[in-house]
Amino acid sequence: MQTNDKLDLLFDPALIPSSIQDQLGSDLYLRPLASDDNKRGHFDVLSVLTAAPQLSAQSYKDTFHELRACANTYFIVVIVEKATDKIVGSGSIIIERKLLRSAGLVGHIEDIAVSKSMQGRKLGLRIINALEEIGRTRGCYKIILDCSDKNIPFYEKCGFKHKEFQMVRYM
Ligand code: ACO
Repeated sequence: MQTNDKLDLLFDPALIPSSIQDQLGSDLYLRPLASDDNKRGHFDVLSVLTAAPQLSAQSYKDTFHELRACANTYFIVVIVEKATDKIVGSGSIIIERKLLRSAGLVGHIEDIAVSKSMQGRKLGLRIINALEEIGRTRGCYKIILDCSDKNIPFYEKCGFKHKEFQMVRYM
């Protein structure tokens, strides 16, 4: 496993509380996304969500740099299995600045994925805990997300409650 100081990270790892690391198994590590995480199986994990065709290494890096250039906006965390240096979980919070609420901040949780063989080990919960903590530290007044009916019990266990409906128009 590569240590954080050898990786090109999306954001400061100090934003992730050490208590979350302690609650993971000793075989796992939660950290910010790195610019070369495509080679650690990031798309294999994302494929539990939806069709996730690989980006080329260059496109992955370019997209990573585009996300990082938007200061204080994109926060993606991954869980890495130490023995294999493979990603087994991933999730994002995107922080939106509003004009309402005294120019308040809203966190949008997206793309929570845990590889099939690791589901049921509370990794999804730890990812949500880490993203919530990032949102809280950055000053969000609320955090919202969209999910399917079958995932409602998971998000309720994470402390979320149902409110309103999602609408979509595909382009
Ligand atoms: N139905 C009922 N309860 C559930 C479900 C479910 N589908 N999934 C998890 N839970 C419960 C667990 O039993 C556990 O409860 P407990 O504390 O009483 O034991 C609690 O929720 C926490 O579960 P975790 O072990 O943390 O869940 P896991 O690590 O398996 O991750 C996740 C859950 C992320 C939904 C995973 O199953 C997954 O990757 N699914 C496929 C992709 C997906 O649907 N992602 C969510 C998309 S929505 C979005 O991204 C905003």
